[in-house]
Amino acid sequence: MDEHKKKGSSPGDSQCLVYKPTASVIEGATLKEYEVLYQRSISDRLGFWAEEAQKLEWFKGWDRVLDDSNKPFFKWFVGGKTNIVLNAIDRHVLTWRRNKLALIWEAETGESRTYSYHALNREVCKFANILKSMGVKKGEVVTLYLPQIPELTIAMLACAKIGAVHSVVFGGFSVEALATRIRDASSRVVVTADGGFRRGKTFELKSIVNEALKDSPTVEVCITVKRTGQPVSMEADRDFWLHELMALPIASMKCETEVMDAEDPLFILYTSGTTGKPKGLLHTHGGYSVYTATTLKYVFDLKEEDRYWCTADPGWITGHSYLVYGPLINGATQVMYEGAPNHPYPNRWWQIIEKYGVTILYTSPTAIRGLMRFGEQWPKRHDLSSLRLLGSVGEPINPEAWRWYHRVIGGERCPIMDTWWQTETGGFVITPLPISPLKPGSATRPFFGHEVAVVDDQGAQVPVGSEGNLVLKAPWPGMARTIWGDPERYKETYWKTYEKQGWYKAGDSARMDEDGYFWIIGRTDDVIKVSGHRLGTAEIESALVSHADVAEAAVIGVPHELKGHAIHCFVLLKHGRTGGKELEEQLKEHVSHQMGSLARPEKIEFMSVLPKTRSGKIMRRVLRARALGQDVGDTSTLEE
Ligand code: WTA
Repeated sequence: MDEHKKKGSSPGDSQCLVYKPTASVIEGATLKEYEVLYQRSISDRLGFWAEEAQKLEWFKGWDRVLDDSNKPFFKWFVGGKTNIVLNAIDRHVLTWRRNKLALIWEAETGESRTYSYHALNREVCKFANILKSMGVKKGEVVTLYLPQIPELTIAMLACAKIGAVHSVVFGGFSVEALATRIRDASSRVVVTADGGFRRGKTFELKSIVNEALKDSPTVEVCITVKRTGQPVSMEADRDFWLHELMALPIASMKCETEVMDAEDPLFILYTSGTTGKPKGLLHTHGGYSVYTATTLKYVFDLKEEDRYWCTADPGWITGHSYLVYGPLINGATQVMYEGAPNHPYPNRWWQIIEKYGVTILYTSPTAIRGLMRFGEQWPKRHDLSSLRLLGSVGEPINPEAWRWYHRVIGGERCPIMDTWWQTETGGFVITPLPISPLKPGSATRPFFGHEVAVVDDQGAQVPVGSEGNLVLKAPWPGMARTIWGDPERYKETYWKTYEKQGWYKAGDSARMDEDGYFWIIGRTDDVIKVSGHRLGTAEIESALVSHADVAEAAVIGVPHELKGHAIHCFVLLKHGRTGGKELEEQLKEHVSHQMGSLARPEKIEFMSVLPKTRSGKIMRRVLRARALGQDVGDTSTLEE
């Protein structure tokens, strides 16, 4: 890449350099003209999406590309019949791709497995038949709680194939988080494993499920993958081992793919919001297939011969869209890795890139910062020359980490796709393409079909360089359709603020610079991104309050060098209880047990009073200022 010393491009970073793609990147890229295609995608948005949708298989074509008669409940490819599996597997096994590798999986333990598209199809059919034999019906929600193993991908595809709706709960979550999600989805069937491996140790899953099931009356069946071999308690008539089921004649290798309406639910994925319980965001077969396939193909310029590696866990949206569905629809060969990036040594990832000849690496700023800490000598021991494109997602990437990633991992030749998007958007929204000039720390410009703006609370565009709310002005096929069981909340959360204009409010603050590049600052609500993982303060607060000694709690995110943000808790104890080091440890343990270790608080402060407004709302702004040692600002609404 050539560096162009164009100064002052970022409002916050006057030293910002623009990185222009090299001639060979431009030469090799499928897409050489952003402006022309972008303008076309805006002036004829529906035409653009229809053209992309045509590239996929449909059981029956759509009658209308977009139905916006009941805003904000948009419908895409109305009347079309499809199934995401038709595009992710079925169409590939009819061609030479049946023998192409779909998945190369490796575990921290060194164990590895590969699946061709043919093999993946076989396993998915078998799994789908098992689900059917357990009485799983079209439209029913199956909860998946698994480590990062191929069975998770297979289970997701098996659900989709028979028209069941999957709800993946990240394996790092724990009892209460899991139980809440199972209950909200009224799942009858749960799929899990005895445990998983991380950092040379095993962790438990089935025992957590057992505990969660005490509070989940709807569950009748639990299918368990034997992964670690650790002893687990199995209940007769409810609990089954997957390998035993797979050996039965019911697990036949033939299974028809269910014909789904384009708008039929594909999955729900719970994510944290401002208040109360987590929201189950719903995605559908048609629009989501088109959106994940198109975004991945253009942004990562995915080619037949690529070896693509997305390090995300399928338990998060990145895993759903860009580890499971997007790559498979595109017929790609991908790598999946279970384990920590630095175990047993900080070269674990670089070793994998060299071993499998990875050409595209998509990961998070937290991972990059974490690996950067160990120094250049670790990546330098490996031949990383197969890499041609890099990606980043989940939180803003600080320019220092960007430059390290670009120079040390990308050898100054690989452009970095800093992709901004959300569980709600289903796929990339603001993102570079391989041909884009890049500015470290900026997700650059909108993807095709998107008009994005930074506005004030009334909806007026803020001046260039000023901070404001990020809004998306037009619908797109990958958008979440609703919140499971709570359409009002969907309307309220995302569409209420700019109801008059009909814009989607992202919940992020951002700036736009004079080149039209977007710089994401962070969440404006009570969502905290800890190591790129999305957590809600409300869930952590209720975990704290479930402890016998706690009366009230308030949780905020404070900037953290490695994790992006860390969890900081303010706790008011019940009358007569006193805080101290011991109780602090106990509370941290308690939150880990209830929510999962990813939600373990960094710090707990015991308070004699929590700052509240007269109407009783906790003033997190005041707490944040206190935690950061800043001026508290205007406190005129603070209760005496
Ligand atoms: C943040 C993850 C800056 C943002 C795909 C968003 C980012 C939230 C970026 C969604 C990025 C994601 N730069 N911030 N490239 N990507 N975010 O639902 O705050 O887990 O609103 O989806 O992550 O988190 P979610």
